[in-house]
Parts: sequence; structure tokens; C-alpha cells
Amino acid sequence: MGFLFNSDAARGAVFRQIFARELPDLEFYHCSENIDSDKVRYLLTWNVPDDVSRYRNLEVLFSIGAGVDQFKPEIIPDHVKVVRMVEDGIIRMMQEYVVLGVLALHREMLAYREQQRRAMWQALTSPQTAERRVGFLGLGMLAHAAIDRLKPFGFPLAAWSRSKKLVEGVTCFHGEDQLAGFLMETDILVCLLPLTEQTRGILNARLFSFLPTGARLLHVGRGPQLDQAALIEALDGGRLAAAILDVTEPEPLPQGHALWSHPKVMITPHIASVTQPHTAALSVIENIRRHRAGKSPIGLVDRTRGY
Ligand code: GLV
Repeated sequence: MGFLFNSDAARGAVFRQIFARELPDLEFYHCSENIDSDKVRYLLTWNVPDDVSRYRNLEVLFSIGAGVDQFKPEIIPDHVKVVRMVEDGIIRMMQEYVVLGVLALHREMLAYREQQRRAMWQALTSPQTAERRVGFLGLGMLAHAAIDRLKPFGFPLAAWSRSKKLVEGVTCFHGEDQLAGFLMETDILVCLLPLTEQTRGILNARLFSFLPTGARLLHVGRGPQLDQAALIEALDGGRLAAAILDVTEPEPLPQGHALWSHPKVMITPHIASVTQPHTAALSVIENIRRHRAGKSPIGLVDRTRGY
């Protein structure tokens, strides 16, 4: 019985080496090899192969990324456990990116970029951190980690999640009823929600209308959560002052798309947080050990909830 790595050869080589050292009893296969599908007990992949049911002995399907929205749940047999990637590399990179993005929005970096383009030397006034409220949409593991890194700067911190959560030093809101109240007190909105049917299109005109005038958006969730036309309207109308987007729909945006050249928008190509092979291999190995010991893997997806 073995582990099938269904992704690029370079990362596969790193995984193979670490698996050989840590789990020598488990056979390791790369997708480029000719393998007996009955031998596959664990599969690590970005997309679920259409013929996944041929792995009749599959027990755990690991996503190579932090999200599982790219998986088609209907083709995954019911008994198979689905596991998100939870690993130190992804966590660290998201912490960096959120701190970078929040500080860039706080210190008017997009406006200065625009001023530089016009050769303008002009100081802008910005409030101190204690007057700039940062609110997270989504309070999963990555949001927790990013909040920890932001704490020393002194921003008032809040978060909204679907179900009730408590985090020290963070004003927590939950559920549909508390969303508007959360938004009304948020100057920099960080979207770190998973993509589900409930969150598709959540960043829309109605949501923006609750934010204070001049609020800013840092979007590190998933592209389809954002209504792009509503964002452009909110930026042009002054409701929002700036937006940093690491995710778009589609990715990449087509040439000539209005967001590419919008002066109040900064786009990065879905690089906020990227699975790092060394740390990811160790985390998958830990989860295989847990699974073998009858424990729940870390990052186990609730298949009815979708994340
Ligand atoms: C990136 O977005 C990931 O899911 O890891």
C-alpha cells in the first residue's frame, strides 16, 4: 500500500526523500510512474482526478493547497477523508503577506505609488494604528496566525466568522446578523474566508456599503468571492480607498481588464501563501501517522460544510 504524489516532479522529489526517511514502510509513487491503482491508500493532489474512483483502496485525499474548493466533492467517494494543507510554510507566508498588505494599506502605499507615477512629492496624512481598525472576514487557522503577527502594531483587531469564536485581544462577531455591525467598525478588511456556496460573491456592493468611507480591502481568500464590478464602483465612488488583491477570477485576469490598471488597486498573482515542500511533507507524514493511529488528521475537511 502506498502514497501517490500527483503534482510536479520537483516537489515530488523532495517528498519522496522525506517519506523514505520518515515512513520507510510506505511505498511512494509519483503520478508519472505506471502504478497499480489498488495500491494507492493516500493521494496528494491539487485537483481530484476524474477517475479517482479507480483508487479503490483510497482512504485519505490530501489537498496540496490550503483550500479544497477546487475539489469536485461529487466524484470523491463518501468514505474518503479529505484533508486541507496545514503546514508551517503556508502559515508563515500568509502571516508575512497579511502584515505587508495591512501595513501597505495603512501607510497609503498605493496612493504613493500613484503619486510617484506622476512625479509628485507630497506627504499624506494617515491615522496612527490605534485609530485604524483591522477586521478579518474568516477566523480559521490562517487568520489566527496573521492576527498574532499584527498584534504588536497596535491596530484594534476584530474578526467575523460563521460560527461563534473567541480570540483574546480580538473583538469577535459571528453569523449573518452580526456581519453589518462588524463591517461598520472595520477600516481595513482582510478576507481570509474559504470559498463555499455561502461565500461566493460575498464581497459585493451591499457588503461594501456597510464599511466606513475610505475603508480598504486586502483579499487573500478566493477570486470568486469578489464582485469585481462592485469593487471598481466602490473605489471610484470613494467608499473604498484602496484594494490589494492576491486572488482574482479568472486567474490571471484577461489583458486589458479594468483592475489591472486601476490606480487604487494592487494585484499579486496568487502568491500570498504557497505550499513549501519540506514542511508540507512533514505535515502530511504527521497526518498519515495520526490516521494510522486512528486519530483525526489535522485539517480534516467537514465535507458537508465544504472546508
Ligand atoms: C493557495 O491559495 C492554497 O490554497 O494553498
